[in-house]
Amino acid sequence: MIIRSWLFVPGDSERKLAKGRGNSADALILDLEDAVSDDHQDQARAMTCAFLKDNPDRSRQKLWVRVNPLDHDFSLPDLAAVMPGAPDGIVLPKVYSAAEVNRMADFLLALEAREGLGLGSTKILSVATETAASLLTFHTYLDNVTNRLTALTWGGEDLAAALGASDNQHPTSGDYDDPYLYAKSMCLATSRAIDAQPVGCVWVNFRDLEGLKNDCLRDRRTGFIGKVAIHPDQSDIINRAFTPSEDEIAYSQKVVDLFEQNPGMGTVGLDGKMLDMPHLKQARNVLALAKQVKEGG
Ligand code: COA
Ligand code: MG
Repeated sequence: MIIRSWLFVPGDSERKLAKGRGNSADALILDLEDAVSDDHQDQARAMTCAFLKDNPDRSRQKLWVRVNPLDHDFSLPDLAAVMPGAPDGIVLPKVYSAAEVNRMADFLLALEAREGLGLGSTKILSVATETAASLLTFHTYLDNVTNRLTALTWGGEDLAAALGASDNQHPTSGDYDDPYLYAKSMCLATSRAIDAQPVGCVWVNFRDLEGLKNDCLRDRRTGFIGKVAIHPDQSDIINRAFTPSEDEIAYSQKVVDLFEQNPGMGTVGLDGKMLDMPHLKQARNVLALAKQVKEGG
């Protein structure tokens, strides 16, 4: 199942947890990190674990948990507290390099054994661009990273703080400044290089749904699949943007058929346009995405 919309839900909010479960998001990310204040940490862990246990059917919507970063004292207690609920995956924030993703995989293995869960069943999403060091270590993902790592995403907020920036966007155009575009590009390239899902970053102006839609389309054009959400109203828009339309599917099928009918030809013409191997690859990507979305639904 391909996860298009990943909705963050504060792990200590009964109301938002219930609302999230009824929402169209393909996955919820139950948050034990930034959305939870320190004095609510114990309560959030207990509520998150109870919520996971109360919702064992994940066929329509996956349930992931964001724990605190591995260099924080809260991280392992977060993990130990939620694994009895068998989360589908763990979101690992403020990563420095793939070494930490592999460390997380080792911890998960031990806790899966403790809980009697399938060994290797818990996936990992790396928030791959939140520290200064992370911008220098993308290559480490190419070297024996755990196959639990099924998705990477990027973020500009913590990175701005890490880089000493006063803002991360141009004051008038609203476009991201250079370091964030670099982070975005490297997240995409690294994901594709290791066959993981590149997930687009959050659109923080949650009342601006038109802006979200445009950002989704830009992400999809660039190669991302799916997007992180922070508000329930964002899920439908994200789902729609990352579901290939009937027209796209029909056109892609036409491209694939044309190449199949002309074996051995590297270039063909369709509707007055030259098509070659990258177009065939792109058409196959659209059909594969459509199939994955359908199978998940
Ligand atoms: N998940 C589930 N439900 C949510 C939600 C979320 N992320 N965000 C809002 N809701 C609920 C609200 O509780 C409210 O429900 P109600 O009608 O039963 O009262 C409804 O959706 C409408 O919410 P709204 O009033 O539009 O927003 P808000 O002002 O209550 O909340 C935020 C705004 C940003 C605080 C909220 O969206 C939020 O908590 N987002 C997630 C933050 C987070 O996890 N950040 C960490 C990752 S970056
Ligand atoms: Mg906190």
